[in-house]
Amino acid sequence: MSYRVIQWGTGNVGRHALRAIVERPDFELTGVRVYNPDKVGTDAADLLGGQPPTGVKATDDVDAILALDADCVCYSPLGSTLDETGGPLDDICRLLASGKNVVSSAVEFHAYFPPGLAMKGAGDSHERIERACAQGKSTFFHVGINPGFTMDMWPLHMSRLCGRIDHLHAIEVVDMTRYPSFHMVREIMGFGLPPDAPSAIDAHMGDVHESAFYLSMRMIADGLKVELGDVEYSREVAVTDEPISIAAGEIPAGTVAAVKFHYRGFINERPAITLEWIWRITDSVAPEWPTGDSRWILRVEGNPSIESSIDIGTTEDAGRGTSIAVATLLLNAVPIVCEAPPGILDNLSLPSHGGGYFLP
Ligand SMILES: NC(=O)c1ccc[n+]([C@@H]2O[C@H](COP(=O)([O-])OP(=O)(O)OC[C@H]3O[C@@H](n4cnc5c(N)ncnc54)[C@H](OP(=O)(O)O)[C@@H]3O)[C@@H](O)[C@H]2O)c1
Repeated sequence: MSYRVIQWGTGNVGRHALRAIVERPDFELTGVRVYNPDKVGTDAADLLGGQPPTGVKATDDVDAILALDADCVCYSPLGSTLDETGGPLDDICRLLASGKNVVSSAVEFHAYFPPGLAMKGAGDSHERIERACAQGKSTFFHVGINPGFTMDMWPLHMSRLCGRIDHLHAIEVVDMTRYPSFHMVREIMGFGLPPDAPSAIDAHMGDVHESAFYLSMRMIADGLKVELGDVEYSREVAVTDEPISIAAGEIPAGTVAAVKFHYRGFINERPAITLEWIWRITDSVAPEWPTGDSRWILRVEGNPSIESSIDIGTTEDAGRGTSIAVATLLLNAVPIVCEAPPGILDNLSLPSHGGGYFLP
């Protein structure tokens, strides 16, 4: 079976997704939605470089995209980091109502809708998406590297090896040096800001029960069928002594060059689950923190104890493992999403499946 797939957004994630849609033997590229006026009218192949023409031209005409006959849309433009997040939800609902399945990385609050938890960031997404799915007889699934895999689903899969768990610790280490998105690296993550300056991500994570990252903690607890108590938050930063040049611009001396965010979840009033995100633009600060490019470490203390890690690499585009991993998580879900009954699949309800493809 071949799947007709539309790629919506051609940024870091979207270009990896587009390349895979063009290359995958069981996918047929059906449309490309872009925002940048310079990309409009360009053959999809020219957005990737070095590919034979696809005959599919990028467009910013949403009605034209809605009118296409497609099985699935891979929706990866900006989403929850925008000032106004109603737009992405409107897009997703229109696509679903038009009968297209959607896999999305844009709004992290859509990764999991825990029963009884009404997060401000999710708003009325659950009801609206359900309605749109019913209207279009379509299925929706959101996934990201986290929430959606490395800090929740991977630890959960690994817990099948566990007996008594004393403490589960998942660590993300991502090098942001080659991430060219000024919006994400500077405006959201706060690299290049003075250490005491508030950053958007600090405000987001610090409001624990309203943070999309809390969903990872909830997915682990709910997947393990234990009641999650308090979740403590802390943040540390490390400052560079000298200016550093990265893809997103210049980072002045005396400003943030590495950050560590920390959630500690309590079960039975004991600290039981620790999630830690370490993001760097240099390894020369905070040498005691783990280093790596796109790396995740899982440590389970208990019987048995477990230590495992994932390192993801690619040489394409900006060479960021995280971006290609979001693209592969999205596309590997397409067949299962297209075959699922209408409605929302979240990361806990998604049937077990594999991924990847072989060329003929
Ligand atoms: N949770 C996770 O693990 C995770 C990890 C990485 C990314 N993400 C999410 O995945 C999405 C894509 O990330 P990325 O790294 O590819 O971002 P990026 O490189 O900054 O790309 C930006 C994308 O947004 C599009 N865009 C431009 N203006 C826009 C607007 N006003 N409204 C909506 N979209 C606009 C761009 O359009 P063009 O196609 O015209 O360039 C491009 O496709 C984001 O929503 C990001 O938050 C999630």
